[in-house]
Amino acid sequence: PSSSSIQTALLEWFETVRDARGMPWRKPFDENLGLEERAQRAYEVWVSEIMLQQTQVATVIPYYNAWMAKFPTIRELAAASIEDVNALWKGLGYYSRASRLLAGAQKVVKEYGGRLLDNAKDMEAHIPGIGRYSAGAICSIAYGERVPVLDGNVHRLLSRLLALHASPKAKPTLDVLWRAAEALVQDVGTVSSSSQVKSNSYHPGDINQALIELGSTVCKVKDPLCDSCPLRHRCHAYVFSTKSAQNSDIPD
Ligand code: ADE
Repeated sequence: PSSSSIQTALLEWFETVRDARGMPWRKPFDENLGLEERAQRAYEVWVSEIMLQQTQVATVIPYYNAWMAKFPTIRELAAASIEDVNALWKGLGYYSRASRLLAGAQKVVKEYGGRLLDNAKDMEAHIPGIGRYSAGAICSIAYGERVPVLDGNVHRLLSRLLALHASPKAKPTLDVLWRAAEALVQDVGTVSSSSQVKSNSYHPGDINQALIELGSTVCKVKDPLCDSCPLRHRCHAYVFSTKSAQNSDIPD
């Protein structure tokens, strides 16, 4: 199936769940925001993504709200002590996440004028605690950059979609999956009657959030909910499994 048919199915599904769990960091992408406002969005998405790394959405929401009340901007965070930061993190676990947020904020204030870098390549290279996944999530969601995400959820979803039989952590496998994730955030464009290539307006942050959310809520590790999956007819794992289930030549 083409990337664009998958993009369309993903985005239609995402619209039905976008607001369902009341995530305060999830705001509609606004093209008219200025640089400062976008960088503020990037800070919010950064905090949410770090909190979500090892913790469920429902648990994160009150912590995120408390954090934003205490450290509404990156400058306020940078001025905080590690004790203040740890106090707010209490109960979330994996405290190194909190100290890396603090170190990242201090570097952004000291070296980048308090504005979180606006592209994934620089962000990953220069901000402590931000790897390829987080940089992709932050820059696609807050800045609209066409960069992919691959976390555990998206890894599983794409492996099933492609029916990839390969060692999950091997470099060639990861390369294939990152490339598949990359293809899905590309603007495939459409050719209009006047032969001009028009942009489709898919927002890469929506595609990425749809992949993450579909992976975590539908394409689950155990007992995936294939019947409610918008991609099931395009999913090689699903299509193979239903075909073999119908094939009466195969003995039980
Ligand atoms: N888990 C990690 N990032 C997420 C996001 N942006 N939306 C929902 N769940 C997530």
